Amino acid sequence: MFDLLENWKRTDYAGDLNVESEGRDVVLMGWVHNRRDMGNLIFIDVRDVKGIAQVVFNPLNGTQLLTKAHNLRLEYVVAVKGTIAVRPDEMINPDLKTGRIEVIAKDLKILNSSKELPVQINEKVVADEDLRLKYRYLDLRRQELQRKILLRHYIIYEMRKFLTEQNFYEIETPLLVRSTPEGARDYLVPSREYKGKFYALPQSPQIYKQLLMISGFDKYFQIAHCFRDEDLRADRQPEFTQLDVEMSFVSPEDIYKVMEEMFYKIFKEILDVELSIPFPRLSYHEAMRRFGSDKPDLRFGMEIQDVTDIVKNAEFRVFSSVAESGGCVRALNAKGCGEYTRKDVDKLEEIAKHLGGKGLARMKVEGGALHSNIDKFFSVEIKQQIMERLEAEDGDLILFVADREKIVCKVLGEIRNRLAKELELIDNSKFNFLWVTDFPLFEWNDDKGKWETAHHMFTMPKDEHIQYLDDPEKYGDIIGQLYDLVCNGMELSSGSIRCHRPDIQRKIFEVIGIKGEELEKRFGFFLKAFDYGTPPHGGIAPGIDRIVMIMTAAESIRDVIAFPKSLKAVDLMSDSPSEIDQSLLDDLGLLIKE
Ligand code: AMO
Ligand code: AMP
Repeated sequence: MFDLLENWKRTDYAGDLNVESEGRDVVLMGWVHNRRDMGNLIFIDVRDVKGIAQVVFNPLNGTQLLTKAHNLRLEYVVAVKGTIAVRPDEMINPDLKTGRIEVIAKDLKILNSSKELPVQINEKVVADEDLRLKYRYLDLRRQELQRKILLRHYIIYEMRKFLTEQNFYEIETPLLVRSTPEGARDYLVPSREYKGKFYALPQSPQIYKQLLMISGFDKYFQIAHCFRDEDLRADRQPEFTQLDVEMSFVSPEDIYKVMEEMFYKIFKEILDVELSIPFPRLSYHEAMRRFGSDKPDLRFGMEIQDVTDIVKNAEFRVFSSVAESGGCVRALNAKGCGEYTRKDVDKLEEIAKHLGGKGLARMKVEGGALHSNIDKFFSVEIKQQIMERLEAEDGDLILFVADREKIVCKVLGEIRNRLAKELELIDNSKFNFLWVTDFPLFEWNDDKGKWETAHHMFTMPKDEHIQYLDDPEKYGDIIGQLYDLVCNGMELSSGSIRCHRPDIQRKIFEVIGIKGEELEKRFGFFLKAFDYGTPPHGGIAPGIDRIVMIMTAAESIRDVIAFPKSLKAVDLMSDSPSEIDQSLLDDLGLLIKE
């Protein structure tokens, strides 16, 4: 058999070489990352998974070798034998980890050639993302992307190690499951054997992990692939990965502790960052009131203040009528934004309207008083009180929203985030973790005219709220034993203590309108399991992609997934989803409707 690598064995990774190896003979294998051909002297950067090393071809080792090196082009695959030399001081490249040495080539084997690349990978300027996704395998050669994907590996490795040491067992659950939508749309898989019937891909292993607790495995985890057919965003993919966790005989405190210790360990091992644990906690209501969001970014202040009590008697009807009708008026102090022009604030008002708000009232602080297009409607005392509540000083800009509480939070929460970015208030080196707890269990859906679970339909209400399940007037007041882990304004994880009592679980299904035959059909098998000795249990599921995003400072979730889908849920490389042969459709008994 022809052996291309006969007598050639890699001794080192290019990126691992350093001055201690001086004088040693090495064999490197990798790609031509860069070349500078000066006729009698050729410099090649050889790149492998660990980094880059400079290789020098000179005439001292024979002109034949030099001629061969002439033929090298970018991204050719090579094996190089050579001796490590320390570079003279003036030749040191401080930008390169191996910049103090170079390899003086003694032999070269060209293992493969490469066509000219459609996307450049050795330059800072990167090509259009669609083109890069089309040639993802080349884009993944870029060191920046490789670093993120490799870090992802180490993060998952640390998770497995930590949880295994804490007596968790990793158990796989099926990918072809019964369709039981959890919130998003299911991806469906038609059955050939049972025409007209479908499997679904799991939105999460939720039901299986609870069944594993019923089976007695006590502590479970899984690096779990999840599939959701929903609109994509910078932190959302149709196919993503959770660290899925479930534990028996626990209270939320036990789950917080395991997660805090795990995140502490991972950040320490991988980034050498010491997180401060335990993480602070905020109730959902407090988070919404103070930051307008259930995933507040606490790397900066700019808290929202309620001023309903102050402005309810002002002559400004927009505010007083909202206050009378049970809404609220809240404001934030955009510190130092008094210089904003009318146009600048109009831009913010556009955002407010886009989010469903009716307007964005504004007041500037000048000469120790509030000034505005609407200030004639406010008495001096009221303006003074507003100034005090918002700790306003000259040069500040106060922005107000009056509406139903939900809208006020949404608008001011978003404006707070936008302003922090605009004003560069965010310290990107910070990792600001917090638990958001005590979410309402149900939410009224105005469009559908029905109650829905706000987060999770398998969640136990707080003990003292279980009785409210019998009183429709109280559904909105029920707090679930729910908790999210938030970092830097991103929801990293979500979890809850589950309903281990079938009677309570049935009531929850009833409230959200799943009952009778439908309930038996969709969840009958699950509820049946609860009749045979179900331990109290609870869990959580950190989103791995988002954790990697935060730990690598990635702007997009696509940068931390080796083969992601585009924002339009398309795999641009393999052009998927794709049409399929008529014969396959026939096998499945499917007819495509135009
Ligand atoms: P939830 O639906 O909140 O909970 O998801 C948990 C975490 O998964 C991540 N995540 C996503 N990441 C990328 N793309 C998506 N489309 C996406 N959707 C969710 C987030 C989120 O916090 N079974 C429950 C968990 C439990 O209660 O144990 C669940 O799936 O980081
Ligand atoms: P108008 O009386 O509609 O011209 O509004 C006067 C000012 O109040 C404008 O700056 C509007 O942006 C603002 N405004 C109107 N409705 C609201 C609201 N619901 N909340 C906050 N500001 C509002």
